Amino acid sequence: MPKKRGPFYLVLSTALFILLVPLYLFGEGRKEEIGSLKELIDRYDSTRCRECHGEIYAQWEKSHHARPLMGMDGWIFMSKYLKEGVLSVKSPQQATKANFPCAKCHLPQLFQASDAVAAELAAAVFRDDKKTVSRLNIGCRICHQDRAVVHGRPEKSALYGNRAIKDHEGLPVKKSPLLKDPLFCGQCHGLGPNLEFENPVQCATLYGSYLHAYLPGGGSQTCQDCHMPGRDHSSLPNFNDRAGTSARLRQALPLEVETLGYVFQLEEGKHQPLAVVKTRITNKAGHRIPDG
Ligand code: HEC
Ligand code: HEC
Ligand code: HEC
Ligand code: HEC
Ligand code: HEC
Repeated sequence: MPKKRGPFYLVLSTALFILLVPLYLFGEGRKEEIGSLKELIDRYDSTRCRECHGEIYAQWEKSHHARPLMGMDGWIFMSKYLKEGVLSVKSPQQATKANFPCAKCHLPQLFQASDAVAAELAAAVFRDDKKTVSRLNIGCRICHQDRAVVHGRPEKSALYGNRAIKDHEGLPVKKSPLLKDPLFCGQCHGLGPNLEFENPVQCATLYGSYLHAYLPGGGSQTCQDCHMPGRDHSSLPNFNDRAGTSARLRQALPLEVETLGYVFQLEEGKHQPLAVVKTRITNKAGHRIPDG
């Protein structure tokens, strides 16, 4: 007589259910999609760190990391891409995350939101709502949480720094060696075309230049050494400060000029003044300039 398997399967499926529900609800695997643009802005709001890290906040606030969707002099550069070309849409309601491959580096948190949020963002771009768009940024949490570990997932209930601090505002700081590594910046400062997208895009490629030109030439400094001296978060150059950027570039690309003037006698009585000018531009940066 065949054994009755019914109760066995009932017990098994109940056990699986009991085991899997908490995993689904609390496990790392659960996808908590952000459902509105307001929630996206609030979740990544850096002002809560200002109270105690005032100086770093002030440096960051002036940097390009604080306005990654705004081009120079405060225009919303995505408006051009959403209105013409392969990423364009007829109306903002049609926009999905697929219209924002640029967010991979300019606003990585968008990939944790629903397509409805992408449509809300597109609507803000279409109505040239600078106030809303400029609140979306690469803030403290992007660097000190989402992009701070490469192996495994960053914990949503921790921040990452150079050392561990247990007692830190309910968000313990864990140690991550990645923060000091050029790869940390290379995650966004690019190697070449981003072929994973249906419409591959290419923007910044400076990390490629660092890896393939600067390091093989004997360069030994990291992005952080040159761009974050004393942990400064200003991320200079600031292209909206034209005078400051020119001064920095003059230092970064020193020009040496040697001249020799002489007179060349082409034929009797015909003198031609000539000059030899030798120039030499040295690039002191850790990569090509300009990039992009
Ligand atoms: C109530 C005050 C307070 C708030 C709010 C706060 N911090 Fe801190 N944080 C500190 C203190 C104090 C330290 C330790 C500083 C030290 O010892 O130099 C610290 C250390 C850190 C470190 C570790 C630095 C290292 O040595 O590597 C990071 C990263 C950090 N905070 C990020 C943040 C971020 C991001 C936020 C906002 C989400 C934040 N903090 C909010 C007080 C605060
Ligand atoms: C691989 C990461 C990455 C992707 C993808 C990416 N960008 Fe960028 N983009 C950067 C970085 C990093 C910078 C700044 C540094 C640089 O130019 O070297 C930058 C700079 C820019 C600037 C200049 C910003 C300014 O303040 O004037 C514009 C405009 C821009 N990107 C537009 C786009 C657009 C549009 C897309 C999508 C079609 C895109 N980017 C995709 C990383 C990226
Ligand atoms: C673009 C990425 C990036 C952003 C944005 C960013 N940080 Fe950092 N932060 C770093 C890196 C990288 C280091 C470590 C640099 C090093 O050790 O050379 C660091 C270091 C720190 C430290 C340690 C300072 C020390 O003296 O040891 C604190 C505190 C900190 N950040 C807080 C913040 C706060 C607060 C914000 C937001 C206002 C913020 N960071 C935004 C990348 C970032
Ligand atoms: C999450 C992606 C991301 C990370 C991580 C990141 N950056 Fe950026 N960074 C950008 C984007 C995007 C811009 C351009 C923003 C704009 O102007 O539109 C930028 C701008 C800059 C600029 C200003 C010059 C320019 O071309 O706009 C400097 C300098 C810079 N980053 C250095 C660094 C360094 C150094 C690190 C590592 C410590 C780092 N970044 C980490 C995305 C990132
Ligand atoms: C040896 C020092 C040095 C190293 C290493 C270095 N940089 Fe630079 N970087 C510079 C200098 C110098 C400039 C010229 C502008 C300035 O001084 O502000 C510059 C300019 C830039 C710019 C603006 C590019 C443009 O189009 O004008 C970005 C973005 C940047 N660096 C990011 C990085 C990143 C990311 C890394 C690491 C992969 C890195 N840098 C490594 C010195 C360095």
